[in-house]
Amino acid sequence: MTEIRTRIVGTGSYVAEGVLTNADLEKLVDTSDEWIVERTGIRERRIAKDGIATSDMAAQAVLNGLDMAGLKPDDLDMIICGTVTPDRPLPATAAYVQHKIGAKNNCPSFDIAAACAGSIYGLSIADSFIRGGQAKNVAVIGVELLSRVLDFEDRNTCVLFGDGAGAFILRGDTAENRGILSTHKFTDGSLANILKIPAGGSAMPASKQTVTDRLHYVHMEGREVYRYAVRYLADAAKAAIAANDFSAEDVDIVVAHQANMRILEAVSKRVSIPLDKFILNLERFGNTSSASIPIALDEGVRAGRVNEGDLMLMIALGGGISWGSALLRW
Ligand code: UT7
Repeated sequence: MTEIRTRIVGTGSYVAEGVLTNADLEKLVDTSDEWIVERTGIRERRIAKDGIATSDMAAQAVLNGLDMAGLKPDDLDMIICGTVTPDRPLPATAAYVQHKIGAKNNCPSFDIAAACAGSIYGLSIADSFIRGGQAKNVAVIGVELLSRVLDFEDRNTCVLFGDGAGAFILRGDTAENRGILSTHKFTDGSLANILKIPAGGSAMPASKQTVTDRLHYVHMEGREVYRYAVRYLADAAKAAIAANDFSAEDVDIVVAHQANMRILEAVSKRVSIPLDKFILNLERFGNTSSASIPIALDEGVRAGRVNEGDLMLMIALGGGISWGSALLRW
């Protein structure tokens, strides 16, 4: 029997229109363009307008991806939405997306909260459903409206993140030697507290006090996350390459989570894949968490950087901490 492989047949993205530059941030907190560029590589990020919800951005990204794939919302068998900034704690943001794009009722739609690794986790889940024959066409979304959970009085976090959405449209295909070759997922829950929103969940329900104490915003021990990011992203990249009997030189293109240019430079060295093989857009969008890989891929595809037959490596790490990699033949 011919093996079914999962292929990305469409990509889509949506970034908010509002641009927040480093100069704008200099007016809000004690920071400088020089510090932000030197320490992170970020120059500006997008901020969604009031009234826009996470699902609005996600729906637009999926529709753009479906358009590229030549599919309609009705063709989707599943919508998986990676986000840690849902429209609301209940219900799933994916349910709003399903309704907004007009997909059908037998298209189960659910969220996954794997933070910055959300798109790789989503890809992996979709791949299992597709190869197992339970779904043919699946939309995997990475979307974040982080500006709603950022403390614009905290220079440690507010300069880093931005809003955006990206989507992969996936399809089962029997074409030989194309599609997802493997995915690799990891979590170290002992480090769960180094990147979190402390309040608003069952451990610390929202109250006047939590709002006064600014506990409904993102809190991060940046240096710790940085340390693990370099090590674990490199390990995940190596795991994907080794599992498929390739070597680093075989990789044509890397789509990495865009958190910090210094992290990407260090990972590039550790895995011996030059930075010019990485798709980079961190400078313009900052860290969009789960959206960052699908936005970068969509930009790369539309700019003609990705060619049929390319060996593509994806790597991401974020809150959880959760991280992972995927290797695919385009
Ligand atoms: O997407 C999830 C994954 N997230 C990440 O991968 C983020 C990982 N972490 C990082 O990218 C970096 O750790 C940061 C960019 C967050 C911070 O860079 P760093 O080089 O690790 O700086 P640091 O936290 O060690 O801080 C160095 C100094 C501190 O001052 P002192 O204590 O040395 O006087 C900070 O208070 O820089 C200060 N600082 C700032 N200064 C100006 C921190 N944020 C700022 C700022 N502007 N925005």
